[in-house]
Amino acid sequence: MRSITADYGSRRLVERDIAEPPPPGPGEARLRIAAVGVCGTDRDLASFTAGEPPAGESFLVIGHEALAQVVECGADVAGLSPGDWVVPTVRRACPALCPQCAAGRRDLCLTLAFTERGIWRAHGYFTDYAVDRAGDLVPIPATLAEYGFLVEPLSVVEKAVSRALYVVQSPGRRALVLGLGPIGILAATVLSLRGFEVTVFSAESLDHPRARLLTIQNIRYTNTFGTGPADVIIEAAGSGELALAALRLLAPGGAMVVLGAREVVGSVPFLDLLVRNQTVAGIVNASRADFDAAVADLPRIPEPVRSGMIERFRFSDFGSTLYGNAGAAPKAVHMVWE
Ligand code: BGC
Repeated sequence: MRSITADYGSRRLVERDIAEPPPPGPGEARLRIAAVGVCGTDRDLASFTAGEPPAGESFLVIGHEALAQVVECGADVAGLSPGDWVVPTVRRACPALCPQCAAGRRDLCLTLAFTERGIWRAHGYFTDYAVDRAGDLVPIPATLAEYGFLVEPLSVVEKAVSRALYVVQSPGRRALVLGLGPIGILAATVLSLRGFEVTVFSAESLDHPRARLLTIQNIRYTNTFGTGPADVIIEAAGSGELALAALRLLAPGGAMVVLGAREVVGSVPFLDLLVRNQTVAGIVNASRADFDAAVADLPRIPEPVRSGMIERFRFSDFGSTLYGNAGAAPKAVHMVWE
């Protein structure tokens, strides 16, 4: 079957023929992959700045934002049948089964020896078929299948928003989102669904098509830095400098959740943070509850936003989405099964 792989010998993305997975064992389901979205992590895989092949292998099948259909169930699978649409979760437990992995919170793994399908030491879904444990699959209604590949990135946003809401005890409802990529747009949308007054800051012009995906939801977009204080700040711009600057915009009792920023040299206002009871949190990956929240929120995202967010590509077009300029839409999606 076809697969798109990160090849650790040539350090290139390579399309290759691989063996089909074995039939599903007890508790497992065989999936036919329908579509796979690409994100910043996939671009990091393409530049070999993130990711690792499975132990003893020289390549990694990429793809972790998948939408699939169950084609066969092994013995003892309850609650899933052939024909069901599913979204696989990404992370699998660490071998030591640390307390968080044991408690079903692999997204909070303490040993960092987890695997992640399509990213860290486990093959992903940019291929025709896969086998997974049924418990690692999130069923979605057939009516959501058209946009099902958005569930995984949305699950990460749900985790960020719930972490912020856990911290922010004040009744403040002002939110600032940094970045106009898919995560920034989804974060602004979810915060707006939660009743926040949201402003998004990014560098794009005010009339950029991505900005329109916000303004049609009455979400404010600005490319001038320095809006008023925000109770919640979600960083989805991948810029440490911007994250540091935005700390000064956090309201007392506020929370900033960092999703993409990298290391930066600068001055951190610790005294302000403690005097104002502010929290800065980093998050990665998502729990099962976050996936469930994403499935619940996906139909609440206005249809023009969902459709305007994505651009569909053919299976083999990974050169344009992962090396080149994938087009104007924020989210590129490869249709595996056309
Ligand atoms: C994925 C997460 C994953 C992270 C780091 C993100 O793109 O959405 O599930 O944990 O990359 O590997």
